[in-house]
Amino acid sequence: MVTGNQAEAPKAPTVPAVSGPDTAAGKFDAVAATYEHSVLQPLLYLPAQQRALRLAQRLMPHPRRILDVGCGTGRLLRQARQQHPAAMLIGIDPAWAMVATATTASPPELAIRHLRAAAERLPFAASVFDLVVATMALRHWNDTAAAITEIHRVLAPGGVFVVADLFPTYPRRSPPLTVLRRRSRDHGNPPAGLAAALATHGLPVVACQRMPWVCLPDVQIVAAQKGCR
Ligand SMILES: C[S@@+](CC[C@H](N)C(=O)[O-])C[C@H]1O[C@@H](n2cnc3c(N)ncnc32)[C@H](O)[C@@H]1O
Repeated sequence: MVTGNQAEAPKAPTVPAVSGPDTAAGKFDAVAATYEHSVLQPLLYLPAQQRALRLAQRLMPHPRRILDVGCGTGRLLRQARQQHPAAMLIGIDPAWAMVATATTASPPELAIRHLRAAAERLPFAASVFDLVVATMALRHWNDTAAAITEIHRVLAPGGVFVVADLFPTYPRRSPPLTVLRRRSRDHGNPPAGLAAALATHGLPVVACQRMPWVCLPDVQIVAAQKGCR
């Protein structure tokens, strides 16, 4: 349990029924070893991480504690270390193989911790993180409302949640016209369902960007902020 003052490994695995071969996490166990060699890395995952980190940097320039929910192989946190040399960096993922790969890929001197846990049950005390990020992971969560409730709980007042993912914003027909339309506007509205879910759980949206890539739909990068009391 990570408290306001320290980080300790959880006493026991806290992953609820979101792992196993038939679950999203189980499927990611199977691809962990090759994940960073995917053709989608330079096209999708890496740019989405970079955009999410840039937006986070603008909204929360000096976070003391950062949590990556659905961290996969840990690439985002390795980049975040360059921006935030003194921050506590923790990644969680319910896929054992992802956690193992992230741990191996992150040199000890980076001091990044990876734990097996799911978004729906975060093994942390309340109000400890200044920044929570989730890139290309939300679409795999079993219970988005439960996960957002947990993210709100672990965020400190004023803390920022940045999520980057694919949302079905545009229809797939007429791709050339759609691409032109997407390139004509830099920012977009957040997906209505996500914005409503975030607001319902005390995380109103404060920024939204779109990242066109070679396929449809766009990646959207949405930031929400927990109110200060
Ligand atoms: C497409 S990968 C993205 C990994 C990484 N964030 C990135 O940007 O490359 C999706 C990740 O979400 C994780 N995941 C699946 N179910 C989850 C859950 N319930 N809570 C948190 N992460 C989950 C998967 O295990 C996988 O590592």
